[in-house]
Amino acid sequence: KRAHLTIDPHFVVGRVQRRLFGSFVEHLGRCVYDGIYEPGHPNADPDGYRSDVIELVRELGVSAIRYPGGNFVSGYRWEDGVGPRDERPRRLDLAWHSTETNEVGLDEFASWLRKVGSELMYAVNLGTRGVQEALDVLEYANIRSGTTLSDRRVANGSPEPHDIRMWCLGNEMDGPWQLGHGTAEEYGRLASKTARAMRQVDPELELVACGSSSAHMPTFGHWERTVLEETYDDVDYISCHAYYEPKGGDYGSFLASGVDMDRFIDSVVATADHVKSARGSEKTMYISFDEWNVWYQSRYNEVDRITDVAEWPVAPRLLEDVYSVVDAVVFGSLLISLIRHADRVTSASLAQLVNVIAPIMTEPGGPAWRQTTFFPFSVTSALAKGDTLELKLDCPTYSTALYGEVPLVDAVATYEPATGETAVFLVNRSLDEEVSLEIDTSILDGLTVRSFQTLSDEDIHAVNTLEVQDRVRLRDNDSARTTEGAVTVTLPPVSWSALTLA
Ligand code: AHR
Repeated sequence: KRAHLTIDPHFVVGRVQRRLFGSFVEHLGRCVYDGIYEPGHPNADPDGYRSDVIELVRELGVSAIRYPGGNFVSGYRWEDGVGPRDERPRRLDLAWHSTETNEVGLDEFASWLRKVGSELMYAVNLGTRGVQEALDVLEYANIRSGTTLSDRRVANGSPEPHDIRMWCLGNEMDGPWQLGHGTAEEYGRLASKTARAMRQVDPELELVACGSSSAHMPTFGHWERTVLEETYDDVDYISCHAYYEPKGGDYGSFLASGVDMDRFIDSVVATADHVKSARGSEKTMYISFDEWNVWYQSRYNEVDRITDVAEWPVAPRLLEDVYSVVDAVVFGSLLISLIRHADRVTSASLAQLVNVIAPIMTEPGGPAWRQTTFFPFSVTSALAKGDTLELKLDCPTYSTALYGEVPLVDAVATYEPATGETAVFLVNRSLDEEVSLEIDTSILDGLTVRSFQTLSDEDIHAVNTLEVQDRVRLRDNDSARTTEGAVTVTLPPVSWSALTLA
């Protein structure tokens, strides 16, 4: 198969924001406990954090990290996680039928973030709590000193304020499974009141209202419109969440998941812009795509949940999906979709980071390793700089059961005007045929190929595991040929690739 792509740096979609490469740490399963925090592990630092995990998180290149949930946050009391550890309560975590020990809380997480060099994005509980508790945690976290709660933080060993800029107003409040779930009107009113109160403390905070937990929710569209009608002047972002998995062995549709993500984003933009024009507002609403990934949710739903509260475990193995090559290719395509919408999606969080639907896995007392999805993320985070370019892509299409006729190739390019550095991210969705792609670079005078790497495998179900940790990795693709004004590359079937030119 053949395809043709034209790159022209004059056609700019928007600036790629670093916050697009964010992630998410929830008190869920072994993400925090036995994930980032494992005192007693041979690699634990004096604070109990695994240094091997810190190294991998740095290598992954994550910007802001959303915390502490997720569904967990809708029943969480932030005060439980601060102060002397031996006085912290053990609580029932209703979201995940687990026991929360509260050994790690806001101050510990902020100190871990300083070690990994990432920013904190904090979610407040608008499920079982409201305006006052959001104000309290804001005071505790961001006020330097001189008030009861800020002085408590100082006394707890964090003299500097955490200075959290980005705050999520609850989590997935459209979902009937969410503690405190209500109607869009109810949530919108509460989010507006909370946002206004928080802005009385600091007008510069960046606030995210909950959008839909999936584009396939029955309330999708109505939820966004109603919530934005209530909150438009008070918030900066509306959130999107999306997870994908192959259904019934339909890999053709699964490989086209990015098409669904594109449509999801376009719909939310259309709804936000409708509210904007109906209000005669000058303000543009941005999207925080603060949960996205491949997640085999059907496997999770098949597992019996422990219902006897006396048996709810501490840090059980939950949602520990093992990702294959095809999962990583779809994952790379989701990143392409986010970058393609750089004008409106200015923040995103890969859900999640360690052990729980994660690019990094750990074994208690044992090693930490990279899942297949680690590679598209780390490479895209390192290479996608400057502006997203509008592309002209001519390629064959194929028919899918879920999304109709879709392009065989998925592509996005970024261009840094200051240096001329250009990166092109490419996916071949074909299950059995390679694609020869000619990239017209004639307008980018004299650029040459710097690197070309591909993730693919004869076995699209190959994985990395505790036993074989580097079965799947990126490989140099030596197919790139430069002719005058063009670069031609070969994309293997079911592959994700990154090409850089300079
Ligand atoms: O990331 C796992 C869960 O998915 C989160 O807790 C929730 O927000 C979403 O439904």
